[in-house]
Amino acid sequence: MSPCAASFIPALRRFLCAALLLPSCMLAMAEGSGASGRVPKPVLEAARGGQCVEDAAYMRRNHMQLLKHQRGDTLRGGIRTGKYSLKTCIDCHASASTNSVNTSAGDFCQSCHNYAAVSLDCFGCHASKPAANQVAKAPDQLNQPQVKP
Ligand code: HEC
Ligand code: HEC
Ligand code: HEC
Repeated sequence: MSPCAASFIPALRRFLCAALLLPSCMLAMAEGSGASGRVPKPVLEAARGGQCVEDAAYMRRNHMQLLKHQRGDTLRGGIRTGKYSLKTCIDCHASASTNSVNTSAGDFCQSCHNYAAVSLDCFGCHASKPAANQVAKAPDQLNQPQVKP
């Protein structure tokens, strides 16, 4: 290989890196910093009392799995007394001002999910307030007999 080609190839590679990779890096960085600047940090309103079903650090990481297991137990096994029922979460975590976990940006579940860019479909069916905490009409695909009035 001639000395000329030997120095040309790394230079070409650097040029391609700069031309192709850098813009996507910068875009990713811009999106990253933009997001942390725009999305307010979650403000978690204190629970109404008592103790959580597990300790807070555990809940922070694992509540989604707990809820999904509980749902599986209910839908497949008909168990409705579970410790991790969605209803109990709402009874303790509904906001004092909105009476909901998911109605306004400051509500317990909502504020954290906004921050983490998680959107839940749960409250399309499940009430997010303790007062009228009934599951809405089950769609046909769930094929779930309604035992509640
Ligand atoms: C399409 C409607 C629908 C959606 C969406 C939905 N559920 Fe349910 N869910 C139901 C029905 C119906 C039951 C059965 C209620 C019963 O028979 O007691 C149920 C039961 C449950 C239960 C067990 C009962 C309880 O109160 O704990 C949990 C937990 C649960 N769902 C969690 C969730 C979570 C978490 C989400 C979102 C990721 C979700 N559900 C989304 C309809 C829905
Ligand atoms: C008897 C009341 C009670 C019940 C029921 C309850 N919690 Fe909690 N939860 C608390 C308390 C108290 C804390 C500690 C933080 C506080 O004081 O708000 C907490 C903390 C948490 C945290 C951590 C918040 C943080 O500090 O980062 C999450 C997440 C959470 N709960 C989710 C749930 C979910 C999901 C359910 C239902 C499966 C649930 N909780 C049921 C009272 C409750
Ligand atoms: C401390 C912050 C925090 C709080 C408070 C919190 N969540 Fe979450 N939640 C998260 C994060 C982060 C994820 C996404 C985790 C992942 O992607 O693995 C998540 C995911 C979920 C999921 C799974 C969504 C999916 O589609 O897979 C459910 C269901 C859920 N949360 C329910 C709740 C409910 C109900 C409450 C209020 C009682 C709540 N969360 C409160 C941080 C929180």
